[in-house]
Amino acid sequence: MFPNLFKARMNKLLGKENKVFLRYCQKPLRITIRINKLKVENENRVIEGLKRYGWKLERIPFLEGAYEVKGLKKEEAIGNTLEFFLGYYYVQEIASMLPPLILNPEPGERVLDLCASPGSKTTQLAMIMENKGLIIANDVTLDRLKILKYNLEKYGVLNAVTTLHDGRFFWKKGLEFDKILVDAPCSCEGVIRKNYQVLSRWSIGRIKELSRLQKGLIFSAFKCLKEGGILVYSTCTLAPEENEEVVSFLLEKFGNATLEKIEIPGFKMREGIPEWEGKRFGEEVKKCARIYPQDNNTEAFFIAKVRKL
Ligand SMILES: C[S@@+](CC[C@H](N)C(=O)[O-])C[C@H]1O[C@@H](n2cnc3c(N)ncnc32)[C@H](O)[C@@H]1O
Repeated sequence: MFPNLFKARMNKLLGKENKVFLRYCQKPLRITIRINKLKVENENRVIEGLKRYGWKLERIPFLEGAYEVKGLKKEEAIGNTLEFFLGYYYVQEIASMLPPLILNPEPGERVLDLCASPGSKTTQLAMIMENKGLIIANDVTLDRLKILKYNLEKYGVLNAVTTLHDGRFFWKKGLEFDKILVDAPCSCEGVIRKNYQVLSRWSIGRIKELSRLQKGLIFSAFKCLKEGGILVYSTCTLAPEENEEVVSFLLEKFGNATLEKIEIPGFKMREGIPEWEGKRFGEEVKKCARIYPQDNNTEAFFIAKVRKL
């Protein structure tokens, strides 16, 4: 089932609790949606409308506009409604809704979403910004950019333009942003609950390769950040090489990069780990947030909030 090395690494991270973690990895994820306020004025009306499919909708207390959907006969049904086709809601996992909330862009600001496709977080950023200001939504492959464009249109995003670039070299454009999201490509250990297949691609070699790519992406993003600006780095994986190691690389490279503590009331997050397999990342990375599936019944995630001094 789980590769032995994966289990051994998780055991190092979690000790006895690893059993609970692995049990959660085998549980199906809750189905959750985010109401798209760019198209929906009256949230209650949409919620009441969705109940006609026989679904039960429960509000997620700490996340405005987010609901757990229960009572679906088939999982696919969530993407097969008129409301979905009209872009009234996005099917988005709870942990995945957190990076845009933590970045918290103001209406009118300039925002870069460096790895944006398929656009769950870009559409959420546009919603937080009330469609004001500018988002540059970038991705590296044309096929993925097409999906992103489709979603921006479907969800009524008016303040975003898309670009096709390798994010590692985006800084060469000489553009500056108030807020930047790097939702990096990763080994996806956190989405085993959604897609067991991710384990078939899992290997240490791939983790190390991704870590190199992620360092390139965070370096480039930080160079594009205005003084006083905020960069949020996130992955849906738990591998320290792709998380604390990447953040610690940034802190070492730039004396004016500093971490801020992340808190979401009502949601359990754990500190970043200061050391892994003999590599010291420093105490500062404790300010990063590790999200384990067993803590809030979600996907696993890692989030860091960096300010440029
Ligand atoms: C985790 S996904 C992003 C998910 C997206 N932020 C969302 O919430 O819908 C990572 C994305 O990074 C893109 N990517 C991979 N390498 C990249 C690079 N060098 N530059 C920019 N984007 C890259 C992938 O194509 C993929 O779409």
